[in-house]
Amino acid sequence: MKSFEGDVAIVTGGANGIGKATAELLFELGAKVVAFDREQPAGKSGVENVTIDLGNLPSLEGAVSDVIKKYGRIDVLVNVAGVSMPNTILELENGKYFTTLDVNLHAPVFLMKHVGKIMVAQRYGRIVNLTSIHGKLSEPSSTAYDISKAGLEAATRTVALELAENGVLVNAVAPGFVATRMSIVDGQDELESEWFKNIYIKNKRLPIARPAQPIEIAQGIAWLASKSNTYMTGQTVTIDGGLSARF
Ligand SMILES: NC(=O)c1ccc[n+]([C@@H]2O[C@H](COP(=O)([O-])OP(=O)(O)OC[C@H]3O[C@@H](n4cnc5c(N)ncnc54)[C@H](O)[C@@H]3O)[C@@H](O)[C@H]2O)c1
Repeated sequence: MKSFEGDVAIVTGGANGIGKATAELLFELGAKVVAFDREQPAGKSGVENVTIDLGNLPSLEGAVSDVIKKYGRIDVLVNVAGVSMPNTILELENGKYFTTLDVNLHAPVFLMKHVGKIMVAQRYGRIVNLTSIHGKLSEPSSTAYDISKAGLEAATRTVALELAENGVLVNAVAPGFVATRMSIVDGQDELESEWFKNIYIKNKRLPIARPAQPIEIAQGIAWLASKSNTYMTGQTVTIDGGLSARF
């Protein structure tokens, strides 16, 4: 069923991983999809790719107005693009800290501002922000990442309150472990490491004993971004294979 027929969607981070799976799924379901990313995706699809550095916050308004000039409306905004730059608090580097907050938190917030104005005028819109289990749970060397995800969950709630009366619903999706290049740290895929296999698989810390594939996160995003979602707003939906359900 083409449940997104007639919809125009912006998906950030559409060149790789969860963003690519989401952009392609929304396209398959009938949306015109514009992906914002600093990279180009591998392979061909019907998704239109716009090259942009989302950390360049002043450029976001122009990128949104280009979509409006071309397609006349924006029904869906999915903020997926993100970076992870591990750094301990005692060695915190300004560059890593501010880049993480600009890409993971400030770009989604300003995109919600620019796209939100259009959605309010249309009296229809669906916004989905990608956070993480790091929005509520922490690990060492993740100060900037944890702040960015907790902040985006807070922004999701606040913007949901402000826009609900105009037919604009705003939610977040918080994944756990997902098999994308983000799990590769210093050249090593942490999902293939003995550490991951021992703690999360053998010791059953992860009830569904495998990482998610990007499409499994995209399916959750798609429902929240669809016309079928008529009453859920201001929420964070955790899709983590049961990881955070265990005490
Ligand atoms: N992979 C996981 O285990 C996992 C878990 C929880 C949450 N997440 C979140 O999911 C989202 C997607 O992550 P992923 O795993 O698909 O990672 P990924 O690295 O495969 O994809 C991230 C995308 O964001 C783009 N991007 C990064 N910085 C950008 C910038 N400045 N301008 C434009 N584009 C930029 C990258 O080019 C890339 O295409 C992120 O927000 C991440 O924090 C991922």
